Amino acid sequence: PRCELQAQTGLSRLHRTDFATAAQAVSNTEQTAVSDAKESFSLIQEKRHDQAERSVLINCPPNTNKKKFLAYISKHGDIRNHFFYETYGIYAVVEFSSRDSISSLKENCTIPSLQHEASVPFKSRLLTLSSTATGKKQTGPNAIKCHNLTPPSFDKLINQLSKQETVDQQMQCLTEACQLTEENISLRFLVCSLLRDIAAAYFPDCIIRPFGSTVNSFGKLGCDLDMFLDLDAVSGHDQSKGSGLSLEYQVKRGASERNVTQSILSVIGECVDVFSPGCVGVQKILNARCPLVRFSHQPSSFRCDLTANNRVAMKSSEMLFIYGSLDERLRFLVFTIRYWARAHGITNSFPGAWITNFSLTMLVVFFLQQRTPALLPTLNQLRDLAGPSDKCVIEGNDCTMVTDLSKITLQQNTDTLEKLLQEFFEFYGSFDFGKSSINIRKGREQNKPETSAMHIQNPFETDLNVSRNVNSSQLQRFVTLCKESAWIFQNGDVLKRRSASSSNKIPQWGVAALLMPSVTKSVEAREKRKRRKNERTAERIMSVLQSLKSPAEAGSGSE
Ligand code: CTP
Ligand code: MG
Repeated sequence: PRCELQAQTGLSRLHRTDFATAAQAVSNTEQTAVSDAKESFSLIQEKRHDQAERSVLINCPPNTNKKKFLAYISKHGDIRNHFFYETYGIYAVVEFSSRDSISSLKENCTIPSLQHEASVPFKSRLLTLSSTATGKKQTGPNAIKCHNLTPPSFDKLINQLSKQETVDQQMQCLTEACQLTEENISLRFLVCSLLRDIAAAYFPDCIIRPFGSTVNSFGKLGCDLDMFLDLDAVSGHDQSKGSGLSLEYQVKRGASERNVTQSILSVIGECVDVFSPGCVGVQKILNARCPLVRFSHQPSSFRCDLTANNRVAMKSSEMLFIYGSLDERLRFLVFTIRYWARAHGITNSFPGAWITNFSLTMLVVFFLQQRTPALLPTLNQLRDLAGPSDKCVIEGNDCTMVTDLSKITLQQNTDTLEKLLQEFFEFYGSFDFGKSSINIRKGREQNKPETSAMHIQNPFETDLNVSRNVNSSQLQRFVTLCKESAWIFQNGDVLKRRSASSSNKIPQWGVAALLMPSVTKSVEAREKRKRRKNERTAERIMSVLQSLKSPAEAGSGSE
């Protein structure tokens, strides 16, 4: 049978799937093989990394004529891809077919001579185009069209959702509107590549790799850029064969791996601060469990976190990418639930005791593993399907997972998104967080090994709790909101589609209604009103009953 659980490779455009109809079309087979027509995670990363190394970022004046600009730049070589966007000014991302073009372009660039300040003469791939042409913004076919890097406003999204026909369509529409675009991901890889140029001054073979939501297929427009400095290729290989002799580098030593990481990040952080144009607000947060350098990359507006030696986190990004490729319903649910959590203040972009997006994603994966039949396999099942080349142990943690997704056979589960969303709220509204831990490796809840309010076992560093930061009041808020949302699903007519009234204002319904902060409040208020009304009715009945009784009985009844 045609597999309706189509794989999502990277961020290919979504197609609208009607899961209910697709369910009827599926034959009686109970299992579905995952299509093998997709590229592996590492291949996609390699391709994007390579594209970024062949790209430059150019600040253009607002009156730039697109045709003239491209003709000017392509003197240095064939342009394979380009796009423009606007943040603090208009920028062009230009990808050449060959890296040589960048050397040629750079030969023609000059270091600006400043009047009252001095320049740090670091020749990066972040450039400024100057033009002698005067005049206003271009119009017509040669005007620059800017790609959007930011998500739609809340009101615009709500409006878009209310125009859909079904809750399933709303969830797909929300994902489509909020997910990272190809261009946005390219720009993220380019920012990593620009930073690599700094780190490469010390470690010529290093790579700065993005991880987390930039690559795991759950990234929302506006999410931070998590990167790590990969020094793996820097360490040499043993070449002693036969001669009995070998050479090794003399090196500085640190007290521990952590210590060395801290020193390297400290120096790189300093260089980013002093040398790297566009990087502002550099903060070194070296005493964190995972030491990092945080800064803002102004030309892209990305909030950046640079870590080092973070290969395990890269593996958990790959794991989420694999899960996201297995069944597209996971991404639709995760995007909707993350948006719902943010809209109700359950998550927050500042660090704190709130649930993180990563924890929420783990909750959704676990929930889908609990369905009958299971919608997603357990992590142990993914490990057991791994071939010899998939074997991967990082710092003693077994991170082995199958990379050839065609080896995975999924069970035939045809639940609609609406049903899954409703049951997600019911599931976590009544989950025993006090006793149980979420374990996606086994796909089962386990006894909590420690006393944190919420326990989600880290999939690869199994001694760690992904949600250790969450305190009991934040957990309670999440559980209460799940209960309220489940209640809305069960009782409310809020989820029923309504069309525009005579005032022409589209009424909010379905997911749009669930996202409105007022909905849960109005549900609470309605519940309270209902309770009060019931109480008043009961009181009235009581008093009627009382008045029907004889005076003597009524007297004894009131005692
Ligand atoms: N990570 C982890 N354990 C945690 C927090 C984070 O292993 N307690 C890893 C995960 O691989 C996560 C990555 O670090 O994807 C980046 O963390 P974070 O930026 O918090 O999450 P993202 O998945 O990137 O989501 P967001 O869109 O909120 O940035
Ligand atoms: Mg992140």
